[in-house]
Amino acid sequence: MEAKLIEGKALAAEVKREAAQQTEALKAKGITPCLAVILVGEDPASQVYVRGKINDCAQCGIESRNIRLPEETTQEELLARVDELAGDPAVHGILVQLPLPAHIDEKAIIDAIPPEKDVDGFSPVNVGRMQIGEPCYLPCTPAGCIRMIESTGVPIPGKHAVVIGRSNIVGKPAAMLLLAKNATVTICHSKTQNLQAICASADILVAAVGRAGFVTGDMIKPGAVVIDVGINRGADGKLHGDVDFETAAQKAAWITPVPGGVGPMTRAMLMLNTVEAARRAME
Ligand code: GUN
Repeated sequence: MEAKLIEGKALAAEVKREAAQQTEALKAKGITPCLAVILVGEDPASQVYVRGKINDCAQCGIESRNIRLPEETTQEELLARVDELAGDPAVHGILVQLPLPAHIDEKAIIDAIPPEKDVDGFSPVNVGRMQIGEPCYLPCTPAGCIRMIESTGVPIPGKHAVVIGRSNIVGKPAAMLLLAKNATVTICHSKTQNLQAICASADILVAAVGRAGFVTGDMIKPGAVVIDVGINRGADGKLHGDVDFETAAQKAAWITPVPGGVGPMTRAMLMLNTVEAARRAME
């Protein structure tokens, strides 16, 4: 069987149309949603991601502030910029692109973003609210994964969902969101024993490992939904997912491509969070 593709780009376009419509409605009430994106340093991958976010804002009619700071920016200087944006009523969302240079404490920076402007959903307050099912900004990548799974029409409740990876940004929140959708969830990581067998029992498999081609066809249950969060640049200069697409697509019913899968959806969900932040600022 050849798996069907979960078209991230097309789904992202749909989500961005939603964000654009909501932006129009807010503008009619005199509010223009505004996202501030801070990039410290010259990391080439981060530059690409930030450019994508700024372009998405423009497509949705969302205002953006593109703040580029030199690599040698101190933690105090960065905190001062974040504080400035936190106090600016015209700015609804603040995103500090990660990773930050090693001399800056990421946690201190994330903590400085007010929860109501934390459109990444990384602040402890939003993480906590997500855990207990309170309204919050959901982290964009896991929220995008859920939307992609739902787009297949495969019901999540009662299914065995396996998440490989336990990062705070993807693995843990993806597992929590799947649990909130009534999946039975297993989180696997580098110390997991019998990884192959656990993965091969997954109706829904989310791979967020950070290693190209880590998940192979023998780890996929026939008919599974496979979501590949990995974006690994290979020696060939191309982007590769965590899933070995060729072998996995022989077993899965649905699979996301890389590129053009989870990446565009992540950015689209950020647009929805930004519009939501602007709406809440009106209340
Ligand atoms: N770096 C990689 N992914 C992300 C993300 O979703 N948000 C931020 N702020 N930085 C990232």
